[in-house]
Amino acid sequence: MPITIIVGAQWGDEGKGRITDLLAAEAEMVARFSGGDNAGHTITVGNEVFKLHLVPSGIVQPNTVSVMGAGMAVNPKKLLEEMDGLMERGIDVSPSRLKLSAGAHLILPSHVALDGASEETRGEDALGTTKRGIGPTYADKAARTGLRSGDMLAADFARRVSQAVNAKNRVLVEIYGCHPLDAEAVADEFEGYARRLRPYIADVSLQVHLALQAGSRVLTEGAQGTLLDINHGTYPYVTSSSPIAGGVLTSLGVGPREVDRVIGVTKAFQTRVGEGPMPTELIGPLGNALRGTGANPWDEFGTTTGRPRRCGWLDLVLLRYAARINGFTELIITKLDVLSGLDQLRVGVAYKYGGREWRDLPFGPNALAESQPVYADLPGWSKDITGAREFADLPPAGRRYLDFVQQEVGVPITLVSVGPEREQIIRMIS
Ligand code: GDP
Ligand code: IMO
Ligand code: MG
Repeated sequence: MPITIIVGAQWGDEGKGRITDLLAAEAEMVARFSGGDNAGHTITVGNEVFKLHLVPSGIVQPNTVSVMGAGMAVNPKKLLEEMDGLMERGIDVSPSRLKLSAGAHLILPSHVALDGASEETRGEDALGTTKRGIGPTYADKAARTGLRSGDMLAADFARRVSQAVNAKNRVLVEIYGCHPLDAEAVADEFEGYARRLRPYIADVSLQVHLALQAGSRVLTEGAQGTLLDINHGTYPYVTSSSPIAGGVLTSLGVGPREVDRVIGVTKAFQTRVGEGPMPTELIGPLGNALRGTGANPWDEFGTTTGRPRRCGWLDLVLLRYAARINGFTELIITKLDVLSGLDQLRVGVAYKYGGREWRDLPFGPNALAESQPVYADLPGWSKDITGAREFADLPPAGRRYLDFVQQEVGVPITLVSVGPEREQIIRMIS
């Protein structure tokens, strides 16, 4: 059986982890393909909440193998902490269930320090990164000076680590005026991580091919979102990897003919963490209402950094863009329940830019800062919909909202999530 791709259709945090966990029940392999521990994916199973940053969200489903692709940037300390946390909760993370590509790049403490120093130096022009060392690690990858997880197999791994840290110490001290890191101590620490992680290192491309050959369904779990893509996102306010459907192929080492479903996950409204343009952002009571106070676990505060997320109306111009960039065959809407209680809803259907109205982005996402959204107004609903399990259970205004989105984007909605739990889902009948 072929590959199902799950990608974020917005600026991340769309509920990809929750959807991956749900769909993993029908898959034998789940693969993460982009980013690192800048991601934070939440899975809710009954009273249990799992917050994953690196380990694929398929791990909670017992019959899956989880793999991490070559396009990822992995902080081994964070990976081991996460694995230990899962093990303590009875989740099997043995090498037969979890595999790390030899090509995935390693995040060193020097990358984390550089990310922080660079953000600080930028001051008002900071990108609002997660400070997890993502940018500096991918910069090393592009410069061909990075260390990869396969290097953990080398006899002189510790020497390579200390060399890499010392190279960055010069930048940290001379450019940023920071204290140098103790390269030997980092090398020792990493030797310990290598000892534990060696059994997990694999040729992930081969593993995926073998799974496909055996007739397995492979599910790929996006991290970040389309608008954070290094090539097609709101540059420079993006991450440094390729979280779009195309990134699956390069990260996992598979060809496009293996893919038969491309699922875009979008919230029923818009959010963003960090800096950068967001035309439908709501500042004030409505934005606060969408964000929540933090009292609910799903309120809009970052899973990784705890930062409040910026909130706004659903932007269909950007969703159409995401559908094009990724080639969505399906849409999944999450957090429809959060819209309950608002009298009137708005959705961005076009932009005013350069004295004209545009339904699609004229220059990709580059002119967003100068674009004003054009809204369509739709009725809201007051009913609590968290118990809805069929389309017919939704109030008429809820059904109208979904119909409108589907029609405007031109991609069928197959699932609608009305709460964080596995069963809080509406399966749409097409
Ligand atoms: P991801 O990064 O795309 O996996 O998303 P996050 O886990 O960072 O953020 C999504 C948050 O929304 C998590 O707290 C989820 O438990 C929660 N969530 C997912 N789907 C729904 C939903 O349909 N309704 C509500 N209320 N919460 C949801
Ligand atoms: P998940 O997988 C939301 C954002 C950061 C920042 C920008 C660059 O949970 O959806 P980076 O640390 O990657 O260099 O930061 O990208 N960002 C995310 N925002 N969800 C994520 O992941 C994100 N990963 C990165 O907030 O604006
Ligand atoms: Mg998240």
